[in-house]
Amino acid sequence: MPKNKKKELPKDKFFKKVEEMKMALTFDDVRLKSGYSEIMPDQVDLNSKFSKNIPLKIPLVSAAMDTVTEHQMGIGMALLGGLGVIHKNMAPEEQASKVAKVKYYLNGFIDKPICVRQNQTVAEILRMKEEKEFSFNTFPVVDGNNRLVGIISRNDFDFCQENSVQAKEIMSKSVISAPKETGLKKAYQIMIDSKKKVLPIIDKDRKIVGIYVFRDVSRIMMKNPAGYNTDKSGQLIAAAAIGVNDFERLEMLIEKKVNAVVIDTAHADTKSVIETLKEIKKNYKIDVIAGNVSEATSVKRLAKAGADGIKVGQGPGSICTTRIVAGIGSPQLSAVYKCSKEAFKHGIPICADGGIKFSGDIPIAIGAGASSVMMGGMLSGTKEAPGDVIFRDGRQWKIYRGMGSIGAMEEHKGSRERYLQSSSAKKELVAEGVEGLKPYKGELNKVMFQYINGLRRGMGYVGAGNIEELRDKADFIRISGAGKDESHPHNVIITREPPNYSIDR
Ligand code: XMP
Repeated sequence: MPKNKKKELPKDKFFKKVEEMKMALTFDDVRLKSGYSEIMPDQVDLNSKFSKNIPLKIPLVSAAMDTVTEHQMGIGMALLGGLGVIHKNMAPEEQASKVAKVKYYLNGFIDKPICVRQNQTVAEILRMKEEKEFSFNTFPVVDGNNRLVGIISRNDFDFCQENSVQAKEIMSKSVISAPKETGLKKAYQIMIDSKKKVLPIIDKDRKIVGIYVFRDVSRIMMKNPAGYNTDKSGQLIAAAAIGVNDFERLEMLIEKKVNAVVIDTAHADTKSVIETLKEIKKNYKIDVIAGNVSEATSVKRLAKAGADGIKVGQGPGSICTTRIVAGIGSPQLSAVYKCSKEAFKHGIPICADGGIKFSGDIPIAIGAGASSVMMGGMLSGTKEAPGDVIFRDGRQWKIYRGMGSIGAMEEHKGSRERYLQSSSAKKELVAEGVEGLKPYKGELNKVMFQYINGLRRGMGYVGAGNIEELRDKADFIRISGAGKDESHPHNVIITREPPNYSIDR
């Protein structure tokens, strides 16, 4: 987004009147006006940005919460064209290893494969496998000069009767390998033809320079990579949360090639966030998203400090109690509008964080000015969210809790820092969130299909062919309580809930 000149948009008049009345609105207060359209929902272009240099193929991002985004969600979101922000309620090493799992998910080619030496014993190899928690069982075997001499796989281990024998005694010596320049497609074909699960890649001296693993390669070949959100090196895009002055964590994340970091705080318009932001922008080449704020003046300060993206939302979240406990915050629709208006001048994308209850809130948030929407509760019941499925009252559930809930703050320093209580004793914690359950919803792509297509439909009604057009063309009408009731199913006993509409009880 280049720096932009002020332009008058249809929604400006609406929000001017709202401001004149000293009011602020949220999603349920409004609906988008429908307009003349030549756009079919399946034709719309959903490309957008999370921050200046982080693209999105769909404008949806999963929240940096310990019941929403770890590597499974990060992978799932990026495969769908969106993005996951991996939470920071864990040690920096652990968070970095989760980032690595997202980054290496599409790595058909592994350039530093784990090899074993031909004179290592089976016992030594098995011990190493256990210590390093390797989940794979196939290892290229090399001589003292790193030259490929064989391969050991699960069968060799399973049928080995004496663990003191050396690798060279049980390895398979007839190895199918390929030269350095072998690409993904060719490697796939070689592995299919030879029925080999691993293809070592060697240079002219037979030194091993990498391997292809069939499971990964076939996953890439079978799916549609055009829809994935990938970086220049073809890896899935990953983002992660950090705290104030969290430089050790930052360095570990950068080492694992994280694409962007989010300075994740409940209030970003503070000296400590601004100083952290400036320090990162001065010393590292990485996109930094700062959040959360809900006022235009805060956006201005963060923009001047170098933010590449800004996250808006103070208290709209489904598990938040900040507005109730601290009495602050602006209803989310007005917050997004005010902040986007300022961010537009600086060419910075806004992410609307929190408060999305139905897919219809997504085009509303974008129409108000956001470039992307962050969701917690809408994704927390999926298989990809961390945590086990719980049985209760004859139904399946998953735990969803606020990062400022007592449970999250008691367990994790990251949560206490987010709510400025890092030095508080456990008994003195002041919660700004609750802990609860969400119905189990199954696989992420099924749930996201509904959200993405809800957005597409909204854009079709507005006549917006892409995300920028939705922001430019959107206009709103204020609805009454009766209008809201009318919008929901009424005067009917629902006998079958569709997959995109249910009221959590
Ligand atoms: P949704 O509505 O998608 O909101 O469930 C997710 C967003 O809520 C924020 N968040 C919190 N806010 N207290 C708060 O006031 C909390 O304990 C809390 N935990 C998460 C966060 O911005 C998240 O993305």
